[in-house]
Amino acid sequence: MLKGKRIIITGSARGLGQAFAISLVEKGAHIVIADILETEGSAVANSLQKSGYDAHFVQVDLGDPRSIEACVSQSMKMLGGLDGLVNNGAIATGIGGVSMEDIDIDVWDRVMNVNVRGTWLMTRAAAPFLRQSSCGKVVNVASDTALWGAPQLMHYVSSKGAIIAMTKSMARELGNDNVCVNAIAPGLTLVDATEYVPKERHQLYQNGRAISRAQLPEDVVGVVNFLLSDSANFITGQLLPINGGFVMN
Ligand SMILES: NC(=O)c1ccc[n+]([C@@H]2O[C@H](COP(=O)([O-])OP(=O)(O)OC[C@H]3O[C@@H](n4cnc5c(N)ncnc54)[C@H](O)[C@@H]3O)[C@@H](O)[C@H]2O)c1
Repeated sequence: MLKGKRIIITGSARGLGQAFAISLVEKGAHIVIADILETEGSAVANSLQKSGYDAHFVQVDLGDPRSIEACVSQSMKMLGGLDGLVNNGAIATGIGGVSMEDIDIDVWDRVMNVNVRGTWLMTRAAAPFLRQSSCGKVVNVASDTALWGAPQLMHYVSSKGAIIAMTKSMARELGNDNVCVNAIAPGLTLVDATEYVPKERHQLYQNGRAISRAQLPEDVVGVVNFLLSDSANFITGQLLPINGGFVMN
């Protein structure tokens, strides 16, 4: 179902994005790992290539419009076309624990530029190629913090809320070209970046889930694979929370 699909995954040098990238190549997709982290991203691509998979690294700064244009054009040279885009890259780490009164305006702007504007500009640059695919797919990675209003993280939460709204507009604008646009809203998932989240926040999530256990990357990858596959050709503009029932949509 994903064999031969050409897919860009942003923010895939580590964490959830890396888990998406590995799962996609294992299913026969050709991928570009697009991330600001050159050393880590190249290492992931090299290791996948050594295992015989078709994976490339392209450096991108999602906060820089020119870098985004260059990333998509370089990716097209590598992939020869585009069937899927996973807008996963984001400033998601090291910005929590700050009250709305104390959020630094420069940090707010950077979070919005990378998380929101970056998602728009990546999709805008990719759209002409996705339109040429028989059934292009965009998966936007939001967060369930935007559904329950996690405190002390308002810039991040607001950026993820914007991504949920943007997904619906994008779906309407791209639908007639058979491009589906959906969003996922993972709950707190165990990756390197969430090791530093206070234990109490991990416990709060675990206690509030209908399935009361820690959330792992493998709880999320299958949903992304499905939304990128031909099985999801008539699903668009939707938000899928993946959080063991912490928030029920
Ligand atoms: N892990 C969780 O608990 C969780 C929950 C909900 C949503 N999410 C979302 O999942 C996605 C992945 O998060 P993660 O937990 O793996 O964290 P992470 O910090 O490991 O991943 C974010 C990735 O984005 C990249 N990135 C950051 N700024 C960038 C920029 N300017 N240009 C290009 N790349 C940039 C980072 O280098 C990193 O590889 C994010 O969108 C995050 O908001 C994560």
